[in-house]
Amino acid sequence: MKLGQIGDLRQILEIQLADAEGRLRQIKDRSVELTGKKSRLAEFKKQIGKIDTEARAEFAQAVQSIEKQIRDALDGAESSLNERISALKAERDAVDVTIPGRRPRTGHLHVLTILRQKIEDIFVSMGYTIEDDREIETDYYNFDALNIPEGHPARESQDTFYTTTGLALRSQTSTVQIRAMERHGVPIRILAPGKVFRRDTPDMTHTPMFHQLEGLCVDKGITMAHLKGTVTEWLKRMYGADTVTRFRPSYFPFTEPSAEFDFSCFKCHGTGQFEGERCRPCKGAGWIELGGSGMVHPNVLRACGVDPTVYSGFAFGFGLERMAALMFNIDDIRHMFENDVRFLEQFN
Ligand code: DAH
Repeated sequence: MKLGQIGDLRQILEIQLADAEGRLRQIKDRSVELTGKKSRLAEFKKQIGKIDTEARAEFAQAVQSIEKQIRDALDGAESSLNERISALKAERDAVDVTIPGRRPRTGHLHVLTILRQKIEDIFVSMGYTIEDDREIETDYYNFDALNIPEGHPARESQDTFYTTTGLALRSQTSTVQIRAMERHGVPIRILAPGKVFRRDTPDMTHTPMFHQLEGLCVDKGITMAHLKGTVTEWLKRMYGADTVTRFRPSYFPFTEPSAEFDFSCFKCHGTGQFEGERCRPCKGAGWIELGGSGMVHPNVLRACGVDPTVYSGFAFGFGLERMAALMFNIDDIRHMFENDVRFLEQFN
C-alpha cells in the first residue's frame, strides 16, 4: 500500500469514528430527554404516590414498563455504538505508517539490448542510420542476391527453418544489405541489428535463434581502408583507445576481398595473461575474433541495381551473444533466453 493510500484510509476511518461518536452523544442527550428529571417519565413517577390506592399498582406497573422499554432501546443503541467505536479505533491504530513499504521491482533493459544500443549509438554518431527489417525471407534475399546461388556450399553452413510455402527464417542479417539498397539506393550507411535463425542444436555457444549486427557503407571511392578505420574506431570507443584491430584474409560469397576481424583483448590488452594466469576471454591468445567483413562483391551491388564501376563499399557482420558472453563472462549463451531474473538482473 502506498503512503497516499494509507492517508486516505485514515481519513475514512476518522470520519466514520466522528459519526459514531456523534450518534452516541445524541443517544445520551435523548436518554436525558426521555428519562431525566424534567422528562414526562419523571412526572409520571411523581404522580404514582398521588394516585388512588386501587389504581396505584396498575399505574405504577404501566410506568415501569414504559421506563424499561425506553431504557432497553437506549441501552441497546448505546452498546452497539460503543462496539463500533472501539472497532474503528482499533482499525485506525492498526495502520502502522512506520512499517517499510513493499518496494516495487523496477525492470531494466536486457543485457543484449544494452549492448546493442551502445553499438548503435557509436555508429549513429558516425553518420549511420539503424535499419530494421523482416525476419522471414525468401531464398533470393537470404542467398541468391548475396551471391550464394543454389548448390553453393555456403548455403549448407547456414541451414535454417523453412515454411511449406517456400519462405525461410533469415540465417543472417546480410539480407538487409539488399533490402536497404533497394529501398534507399546509394550512397548508403546503415547498421542493421536483428534476429537470425539456424538449424543448430542448442549448447553453451549455440541457440537456434541469435542476434547479429550488420554494417554496410557504399559510396564512390570506398576502400578497405574505410572498413578498417570504421571498425577500429568503433572498437576503440567500445573498449578503450588502446584497442588494436587485426584483419585476417577469409572468404564470404558476398564480399571480395573478405576478411575476418579480431581486436586486442579488452581484459589483458593483448598480452594473453591476466594476473599471472592465462587470460579467460581470449583464452591466452591476446586477440578476440569478432566477425566477418569485406568489400561488397560487384555481384551484390549489381543485384541491387548499383553500378560497381562507379560505387564500392564495405560490409561487416558479427554476433551479439558471443560479444556479450565474452564481455560479461557468461559461460552459456542459453541463459540469455531463459528469462530467469536472477540472471538478468546482474546486467543493469
Ligand atoms: N553474414 C555472415 C555470417 O552470418 C557475416 C558477415 C561476414 C557479414 C562478412 C558481412 C560480411 O557483412 O561482409 O556469417
